[in-house]
Amino acid sequence: MNNEEYLRDTEQNLFHVYQRFPVIFHHGEGVYLYDTDQKKYLDFGSGIGVMALGYHDAEYTQALKDQVDLLLHTSNLYYHQPLHDAGEAVVKVCGMDRVFFTNSGAEAIEGALKTAKKYAYQKHGKKKYEVIAMEHSFHGRTVGALSVTGNEHYREAFYPLMDGARFATFNDYESVEELVNENTCAILMETIQGEGGIYPADREFLCKIRRLCDEKGILLILDEIQCGIGRSGSMFAFQSYGIRPDILTMAKALGGGVPVGAFAVTEEVAAHSLVPGDHGTTYGGNPLVTRAVSTSLSIFEKRDITGHVKELTPYFEGILDDFVRRYDFVQEHRGMGFMQGLVLTIPVGDVVKKGLEEGLVLLSAGNNVLRMLPPLIMDKAGFDEMHEKLTRIFDGFA
Ligand SMILES: Cc1ncc(COP(=O)(O)O)c(C=O)c1O
Repeated sequence: MNNEEYLRDTEQNLFHVYQRFPVIFHHGEGVYLYDTDQKKYLDFGSGIGVMALGYHDAEYTQALKDQVDLLLHTSNLYYHQPLHDAGEAVVKVCGMDRVFFTNSGAEAIEGALKTAKKYAYQKHGKKKYEVIAMEHSFHGRTVGALSVTGNEHYREAFYPLMDGARFATFNDYESVEELVNENTCAILMETIQGEGGIYPADREFLCKIRRLCDEKGILLILDEIQCGIGRSGSMFAFQSYGIRPDILTMAKALGGGVPVGAFAVTEEVAAHSLVPGDHGTTYGGNPLVTRAVSTSLSIFEKRDITGHVKELTPYFEGILDDFVRRYDFVQEHRGMGFMQGLVLTIPVGDVVKKGLEEGLVLLSAGNNVLRMLPPLIMDKAGFDEMHEKLTRIFDGFA
């Protein structure tokens, strides 16, 4: 079968829900992906922020192979060593008190919403169920997560959604304050908006929201599914703001490539919300994924991955500055750490396509942002190669 036939054959059996690029990836090594024709691609997408440690890391891969030989699944009716280790590691890195493992980011959001609602229900009764979320936010595709995703395009065909979601303007404190009433149970936001176009929360905005939540007995839920696990240069972006949420969601890079997410809560929230019978999942936190979590987090610590991100961020940003200086159609860059966006006036989709031709994997965010989420192990040589390749691509648009 040639590649075209392979693509056609694949699409014949799949529900046509994704617009895939015509690339057939075969394997990965470090910061590179290889397709079935052995063409090499420098990865600035990390499988949408998942492959923080790059591909085929020897220690990570060996741990997973060992776990496959030991035990894959038992259900949440029992205990196992990887669950113990992952629970301990996650609580330690995020500074929250208790964690619940899920299978995806959207499920972490669902769990966070249920936890916040149960907390408010226990403390104040049935009426306090409203959630203030942000315009241009993205929290996932399940019905609860969609209800708090601030993009009408994703929600339009699926009403009625979860009742009680209200939308404020990100980084506009007054717009949040205006929506708060006695029925508000939670304020939910990404610490750095990802899909919406790479917008970090302003320090003052986030700190004022934290104070508002404390004053009014509202829970602050931070979604760090995309920006968490070292991407911002801290293990979690909120840690550089000097605040702590009441509920934190994570996924993507948490397991280094296996499908796992989590939501973590403070002791206060845990003590007044979900109890046995309120929530659960068959697969969540199974031995394979929790082994992946504890191994990934231990590699982060041993190799000081966040130190590396912090050290190389100015180098990365220097390259982005160069693009802004040299090309009229590159308006600005914004982001934190290895989560960066270039704002373009040329079609972003065309740049992403050209990237693949040049052997460079890129992402988009919103209509006009070229999003870069390289593996967190990307080194100077990798950034230089991206600089060179993207310069060639941009020259073609100039
Ligand atoms: C900030 C944020 N929240 C939630 C999600 C949903 O995660 P998942 O696709 O694993 O359900 C995403 C996915 O892109 C995300 O970026």
